[in-house]
Amino acid sequence: MKPLDPIVYDYSGLIAPKDAPQVERYTGITEAELKWLAPRLSSARQEIFDNLGLYSSGAALPEEMQPMDAAFFDLPERLLDEDRDLLDRIIAAGDRLAKEVDRVLVLGIGGSYMGARALFEACCHPYHNEISRQRRGGRPRIYFEGNNVDNDAVQGLLDLVEGADDWGIVVISKSGGTLETAVAFRVFFEALKKSCKGDQAKIRRRVIPITGEKGRLRDLANAIGCEDIFPIPDGVGGRFSILSAVGLLPAAVMGLDVYHLLEGAAAMNERFRTAPPLENPVLDYVGMARLMETHRGATIRVLSTWGKGLEAVGLWYDQLLSESLGKNGQGATPLTVVNTRDLHSRGQQHQEGRRDKLFTNLIVERTHREPVAVERSDLDQDHLNSLSGKTLPDILRAAFAGTNQAYAEDFRRTATIRLPRLDEASLGQLFQMLMVATVLEGRLVGINPYGQPGVEGYKKNMNAILRGK
Ligand code: PA5
Repeated sequence: MKPLDPIVYDYSGLIAPKDAPQVERYTGITEAELKWLAPRLSSARQEIFDNLGLYSSGAALPEEMQPMDAAFFDLPERLLDEDRDLLDRIIAAGDRLAKEVDRVLVLGIGGSYMGARALFEACCHPYHNEISRQRRGGRPRIYFEGNNVDNDAVQGLLDLVEGADDWGIVVISKSGGTLETAVAFRVFFEALKKSCKGDQAKIRRRVIPITGEKGRLRDLANAIGCEDIFPIPDGVGGRFSILSAVGLLPAAVMGLDVYHLLEGAAAMNERFRTAPPLENPVLDYVGMARLMETHRGATIRVLSTWGKGLEAVGLWYDQLLSESLGKNGQGATPLTVVNTRDLHSRGQQHQEGRRDKLFTNLIVERTHREPVAVERSDLDQDHLNSLSGKTLPDILRAAFAGTNQAYAEDFRRTATIRLPRLDEASLGQLFQMLMVATVLEGRLVGINPYGQPGVEGYKKNMNAILRGK
């Protein structure tokens, strides 16, 4: 494995020196507070390893520890090593579908959807579906459905695929019973059967289900006789499943480097295991977030993403944090913003509103493409000739520095996660960092990060209304 460029969590903007004026100490974190928290973070880390050991031993778990979906933690290492055969099959199936069709519908919701979308928006061409197949690297167009029950959106997608013979479906549901996904699959599978004109062999190749070992979708997949069916392993919860077939198969269809994604995640695990507090991105991220929440009232966690390709990564994290820790009347509220866009919508409130926010920037060091520069023009009514030669990355960097400075001048604290590039290796590190951080925080505060009992309420009522029970 070649060495990876590490992602950086820089919390210096949150630290208030010992001899700083009171206002600074009251809005930031002091070294004394950090020292107080460090041993607690280390014990929460140990609890994660103990839980993994307990889970892997197969021993019965006491009721108060359930559910425990600890198996996501070492999934990257397992797929790169003892489960390499499964990983190779996932990649081969993605490549096979990509060769055979020109459009792939990824059906799923929540944890069975947001990771694939994050990868798509971060790593594929921003206009992937509009450019030629050749410029897409021979990869199909990708569409996401089954994540809502929006009639016109479904009809719109049917307009694109009905009657065409060049499309396929990846349907993802761990339980196999989620209504939104199941209904979308019923609708699009019927359309696919018509498109394939009853050619059973073709239908079996054109649908790839990813689901638990048991359940309605598994039964349906077996009945169809799908050529490839991939499991969502027991012990890997939906929102922790991005590095299982749930995220990897769509990534393989998109032609992404799945090995680098997993290697990035494994490298983050190694840092989490071995680095001491204050040099450990997971421990430090959780430590800062906790101290800012409990000592400084920052109950809203703003993830300020700098770049359009990061929005879906932020939304993936919104789900991870809210479904994992929003329990028992607790849990910080996540909020993703995309800058500079949202400086023109939320910026006012973030600069002068309530002091209930911790800002964490998410920024990428290097762009994929050549920087676009402002050119000199013989029409200078817009006064941009003075900026000629400046590039869009220069302007973004100035906006970033200017925003952080303006916040700091008003004692509004910011931390920053820096990604060397917006690529698979960086994203693998980031996804694993945030998943482990979420579990660590749960262990630290005594909230079980797994399971989402609160989501059952709406499902139960919706089913009762629909089925008259
Ligand atoms: O994190 C979770 O477990 C949830 O968000 C699920 O992923 C979501 O509810 C979809 O469930 P399923 O994959 O069973 O269709």
